Amino acid sequence: MIKTITLLFALTSITVTTTIGQANEEIVPKIITKNGRHTLLVDGQPFLVLGGQAHNSSAWPGMMPQLWSSVKTMHANTLEVPIYWEQIEPQPGKFDFSLIDTLLVQARQHDVRLVLLWFATWKNGSNHYMPEWMKHEADKYPNITGKNGKPVDSPSPHIKPMMEADRKAFASVMKYLKNVDTHHTVIMVQVENEPGAWGSVRDYSSVAQKLFDGPVPKELMNPEILKALNTPIVSEGNWQKVFGSNADEYFHAWSVASYIGQVAAAGKAEYPLPLYVNAALRDPLSNPPASSYESGGPTDNVILIWKVAAPAIDFVAPDIYLSGSERIMKVLELYDRNDNTLFVPEADFHLEKAKYLYEVIARGGIGFSPFGIDDNGDGATEMEMHERLSPFAMEYTMANTMMRDLAKWSFEGKIKAAIEREDHAEQKIDLGAWQAVVSFGTGSRDVSSKPNAQFTGKAMIVKVDENKFIAIGTNCRITFQPLAKNAGKAWQYLKAEEGHYENGMFKPLRVLNGDETDWGGPRFGPTPTVVNISLVVR
Ligand code: DGJ
Repeated sequence: MIKTITLLFALTSITVTTTIGQANEEIVPKIITKNGRHTLLVDGQPFLVLGGQAHNSSAWPGMMPQLWSSVKTMHANTLEVPIYWEQIEPQPGKFDFSLIDTLLVQARQHDVRLVLLWFATWKNGSNHYMPEWMKHEADKYPNITGKNGKPVDSPSPHIKPMMEADRKAFASVMKYLKNVDTHHTVIMVQVENEPGAWGSVRDYSSVAQKLFDGPVPKELMNPEILKALNTPIVSEGNWQKVFGSNADEYFHAWSVASYIGQVAAAGKAEYPLPLYVNAALRDPLSNPPASSYESGGPTDNVILIWKVAAPAIDFVAPDIYLSGSERIMKVLELYDRNDNTLFVPEADFHLEKAKYLYEVIARGGIGFSPFGIDDNGDGATEMEMHERLSPFAMEYTMANTMMRDLAKWSFEGKIKAAIEREDHAEQKIDLGAWQAVVSFGTGSRDVSSKPNAQFTGKAMIVKVDENKFIAIGTNCRITFQPLAKNAGKAWQYLKAEEGHYENGMFKPLRVLNGDETDWGGPRFGPTPTVVNISLVVR
């Protein structure tokens, strides 16, 4: 059935033709977990977010054309885009959802899903998206106080009227979405943005100090939780007594998470979409002091506190602006937990970043999204924009047409990855009766003879069957060694076919043989390539 809907907006009149038969009103996107692995179900099937995030001030109608153009260039299937509390609730209790309407209509026109980012009480640790009527009432909606008694540019998590205001506004947004988004164009919502505080580990106001000197909430005094937090098990005590040198940070994490947990719960009660909170990371390798990073947000050391304090949040997610493969691989490991779905909602556009998409997929993560995909008025030429987006555009071009397969294999644990490290060392992947050996570089016969200065090499191997694999990669060569019951046997390629997947069907381009397999297996150049490989022992 074809139906035409006309929506009138303040600035434009848009006519949308939509196929109602495709609408899936019963199936709300959700996260499911099986054997410790997670997936995001969209229209009832595993979905992989091949995303891109808009700049902070780009969700306005006049900015949209650039955004959609970047989404198209990237072949992204999801746009992450902010919605602003200050715009949505310009006066107390008076809501304006026109920007959400515009986003929904245009996303459907571009056949792209949305992740909405609720910029509200916290945006990068500050309250700058609070509506004007709240900003005028600093006494009613105060910021935190630093240890030196000076104000800090970060909202206090201890102020009930502020939490109630956010709760009501977020619940109204989710209620509205439930009514208008029967197509489930919006697949997830991020609650706040990089919450926590820069410039003070916690709130030292008298209100906060009283709570800090009071008993630690019973939910945290559970012996298993204390053990997991590496804290001596005691039966009662105030924050300082129970958590010692971690007390200030843990207290702030608990306070911020409890506040956001209540906001999230109110939204979820209206419309149960997956909800997450993103983290401004700390260095995952050196256990730095909380004064050196954004304290109170869901950094790796306090994920459990967030889980206990905010059960309505489905997962916490790392924003990856760190560099170095050891560090980034550690972050992915820390946020990939039985109780936490791995998703990278932000990353910078550094050339090497796209390779971590493979690790996320191999770990059963639900997606990746670099930040700032649109021209933010910085005068980038079309060519420069293309250059910037191109590492992700190349990956998404390959992944988009096989997205549902990748998401399913990822959920089933059938994918393993090798990510090139700074030393370019070869890596081995055990696949049961075979071991894949991945060497990196851009050389033609011996790829490692020409190391890739950007170390962007990567490979993903899907185990389809005992002797059948799908290898995907760039700047590497993959060969195999017989293992286990095949150990010591002679072997050869039965067939190595290059091509691409389209809606579950493999479309071959050519059969690789001769020079293309004889010099150490199929070679993967700078463009992501998909090769279906079957092996045989002789
Ligand atoms: C992380 C934040 O979450 C984004 O909104 C944006 O401010 C970027 N940092 C800027 O690099």
